[in-house]
Parts: sequence; C-alpha cells; structure tokens
Amino acid sequence: KKKLLVDVDCGVDDAQAIMLALAAPNVEILGITCVHGNTAVENVCKNVLRVLQACKKLEIPVFKGAAKSILGIRVGDESFHGQDGLGDAPDAGAPGLDLIQEENAVSAIVRIVNENPGEVSLVATAPLTNLALAVRMDPTLPGKLKGLYIMGGNTESRGNTTVCGEFNFASDPEAAYIVLNDYQCETYLACWEFTCYSQLPWDFCDAWLGQDSDKARFMAKIFHHSMEEAKKDSGCLGFTGFVSCDSYAMAAAVDDSFVTESDRYPVSVELTGTHTRGMMIVDTVGLLKKTHKACIMKKVDMEKFKKMMMAALQ
Ligand code: BDR
Ligand code: CA
Repeated sequence: KKKLLVDVDCGVDDAQAIMLALAAPNVEILGITCVHGNTAVENVCKNVLRVLQACKKLEIPVFKGAAKSILGIRVGDESFHGQDGLGDAPDAGAPGLDLIQEENAVSAIVRIVNENPGEVSLVATAPLTNLALAVRMDPTLPGKLKGLYIMGGNTESRGNTTVCGEFNFASDPEAAYIVLNDYQCETYLACWEFTCYSQLPWDFCDAWLGQDSDKARFMAKIFHHSMEEAKKDSGCLGFTGFVSCDSYAMAAAVDDSFVTESDRYPVSVELTGTHTRGMMIVDTVGLLKKTHKACIMKKVDMEKFKKMMMAALQ
C-alpha cells in the first residue's frame, strides 16, 4: 500500500481530500497533522476527527501543529469555509480533542518519515508552516520522502487571498519559501489556476452529494455554506462548477497515472513586494540557478477524478 502522511488545515476541500484518500484501497494513511489556515488549529483538529468519525477511521492518529505562520500571523478563510472551518453545520456528537495525540505534528512528521525511509508521500493541503519547521528540525527529511504533493501557489500570478497570492502560500510565505527551496525531493504542485481550470460541473456535485450514504449526508451538511459562497463568486477565475482544490493534490498522491500533463521548472516564492508577497515564482529561464525542478500539474484524468470523488462518499 502507498503510505501517506497528510498535513491539513481542515476546511471543506481538505475534508474532501481526506475522504478521497480514505476510500482508496491502495492507500494507508499513517497520520494526519494539523496546522492553522482556513480556521484556528484547534478547529482543524476537531474537523479532522469529525471526518475520521464520519468514515469510521478514528484509529488514524491526528496531531496538532503550528497555530500561526513562521512570522506569527494567521490569515484565515472563515468567510468561505465557515467560522469552524466546516461550514458551521451542527456537530453534535463530534469527538473530543482528547483524541488528539500528545506528540506535536512537527515531531510526528519527522518521526514517521524516519521510521519509514523512502516510503512516505507527504501531502500538504494547507499553509506549509509544519513542513518548514520539520525540515529545520531534520534537514535529512526531504531525502527520505517518496514524494511531496502540495496544493498551493500559482502560476499566472492570479491570487485568491491577495492580488497575487494563493491562500496556502500567502498565509505563510516564509514557510512556502523554505519548503520549495529545501525539500529537494520529487515534488508535485496543484496550483490555484490549474485547480480552477479543472472544475467539476455543479450537476456532478448534485449527483455526488445525492448518493445514499452517511458519508454523502455528512458532506452535504459541511459543504452547504462554501458551495453557496462558490456559486456567488465573481473572482478572477470564477466558479462555473465545483473546485475541490486539495483533492487534486491528494488524487495525484493516490494514483501515479492521475497527472496527464505537467511542466517541470524550478520554483520559489516572492517574500517582498507591494502586491506580490506570497506569489509563486516559476523560473522558466533558469535564472534562479536551481537544479531542483518541481512538477507543476497542468492536466489530469478528470474521469478518474470523478470516480475517486464518487468513491469517497460511498
Ligand atoms: C487552498 O486554500 C484553502 O482555502 C483551501 O483549503 C485550499 O487548500 C486554496 O487556495
Ligand atoms: Ca486546505
């Protein structure tokens, strides 16, 4: 089985990505680490437990990580994901935070990867604070990963949080910089524009949520708020369908043949600039003089994606 370690800021699309992986028969999730982002890290922990409860997988260990960026800031995305990160839906019967492991998320990442050298794929669908701290704790970590899959960054300087900044990178630009420069391992990026160009139509969404299962009913409940927000969105790329950003990075980690077209370039992150702090830099001309190149996802097998998404709620 593929061994995954998943780092999330469990908003709604993180929940969808986790459920996609839990439904994949070829995958074992070794742990889920939580970080600030869409909502406060305590809510993220609770949300992950709620997702695991809905999927009857509460045996998977969950770890709490950084509450703020490297510089001590939390941006947040409550207007889209709800105050609690999962659409402020009723959560009676949610598991308590006593189920969260005592070990910190950053230590857990270092430990789990070292216990399984060469075998773990790390999937990060959140601000990269935990990953940045982990490589500072253990610089040998990237060399022991099988792969790194990130939802974040942008390729056309289109932002969703600042003019030029995608949420996960703009929430902690220093962490994104550290990860893109210090994780010299096989790295896949599901960037913001690519996810928007790969939307699932709303009628697919209806069929997806309409499945007769407890998981589908759980998803319909937590997804309602952000779905309504997405339907009114008039952002730069617009939403003509449903964009489960984090699920693209997860699907790439789950299935090696999911990505059908990609570019390979050195990448980095802008740390200063009036409008560009947090923007991803794609070095198409080699001026950064970096040997490491990330795989930037351009096209994926959408039929496969639909199947994986459907299976996630069955
Ligand atoms: C990213 O930001 C968050 O709101 C989503 O969960 C996703 O990880 C998209 O920019
Ligand atoms: Ca996320």
